[in-house]
Amino acid sequence: MKKIFLLIAIVINLLVADNILLEKAQKANLLPIPSSTSELLKLIDEPQNPITDAKIELGKKLFFDPRLSKSNLISCNTCHNLGLAGVDGVSTAIGDNWQANPQHLNSPTVYNSVFLTFQFWDGRSPHLADQAKGPLTAPFEMASKPEDLAKKISSIKGYQELFDQTYGQNTQITFELIADTIAIFEKTLVTPSKFDKFLEGDMDILSEKEKKGLHTFIDKRCVSCHNGVALGGMMKYFVMKNFTYKDIGSFSGNDNFLVKVPTLRNISKTAPYFHNGSVWSLNEAVLEMARIQLKLKITDEEAQSIVDFLKSLDGDMPNITYPTLPY
Ligand code: HEC
Ligand code: HEC
Repeated sequence: MKKIFLLIAIVINLLVADNILLEKAQKANLLPIPSSTSELLKLIDEPQNPITDAKIELGKKLFFDPRLSKSNLISCNTCHNLGLAGVDGVSTAIGDNWQANPQHLNSPTVYNSVFLTFQFWDGRSPHLADQAKGPLTAPFEMASKPEDLAKKISSIKGYQELFDQTYGQNTQITFELIADTIAIFEKTLVTPSKFDKFLEGDMDILSEKEKKGLHTFIDKRCVSCHNGVALGGMMKYFVMKNFTYKDIGSFSGNDNFLVKVPTLRNISKTAPYFHNGSVWSLNEAVLEMARIQLKLKITDEEAQSIVDFLKSLDGDMPNITYPTLPY
């Protein structure tokens, strides 16, 4: 009899502990990628440019098409490789004519970028459609001129047909429409993970190790900056002067020295880390964050525990087939 009581007590204890952790995560504003499509659409769809299947397919072709660059060699996928968690795996992005990014900036992932409030490391763009115009024209990225690009894409018969099917007969292909359409495809690049199921109430989905790591992540106050659906995406202060690798690249954030907090989704796959791609180990990135952002000395075990949790943010990648491009 006693044994049964003990067992019941243990089970209740575990359930209560899980509930406390879930509540703690919700209080810290950690939000799920909704599992229901209609809830997800509420977060990502916009009435001025609604998502349709035709736009997604066309946007995907544009995302993969190197002819959007001056050299005909570089596509969005060159630096945001969708098979490589949306990054390029090099410290600093390499674009037109093998030029490195002049500020030594690392390519952030495009997966889940729809959930960011600010785009780019200095947050200078509020929106994916606006953002996409940057790389298309940046001389060290795809180096196209807006009018030339619109003309070039219009001259490809297959594209004109697809734009007509998507937006109506005799659609004029403009630079803006190209950017808008790419942005629609990017909105579909979301990667729900075990952690989202946990936040929606499936307590058993996370291992004890991952739950412990989540406690540490919240208790050490990483969540004061890494929160919301993306666990990032807002502008926060970055303690550049204490940063071990401050001498790599030239970077000051925006006018108020604020920096976009990167998403932590799929972080185990998007090395190297930080705006200048200076750190290759996730453990080291976590220790550096605690030291410079929180003035905390955390132990190697605590860092490892946080990393255990961060791995639960590795999401299911959408199944993307490489498109045949129009002629
Ligand atoms: C040469 C490499 C390169 C190419 C090509 C490129 N990007 Fe990027 N992308 C970057 C870098 C580097 C940044 C960060 C730049 C900055 O902050 O100033 C970035 C930032 C972004 C962001 C912001 C994400 C965030 O977390 O802030 C998005 C979205 C994005 N790119 C989408 C695209 C799209 C769409 C294309 C194609 C039209 C494209 N990129 C082409 C390297 C590239
Ligand atoms: C005060 C705000 C703030 C706090 C607190 C904070 N971070 Fe960050 N985090 C940032 C900013 C800003 C960056 C981008 C810095 C850069 O790129 O140079 C960043 C970058 C990162 C990166 C690298 C992401 C990438 O894609 O390159 C990781 C990993 C990370 N943080 C984890 C953590 C962990 C774990 C904690 C808690 C120990 C934490 N952060 C606490 C603001 C914060």
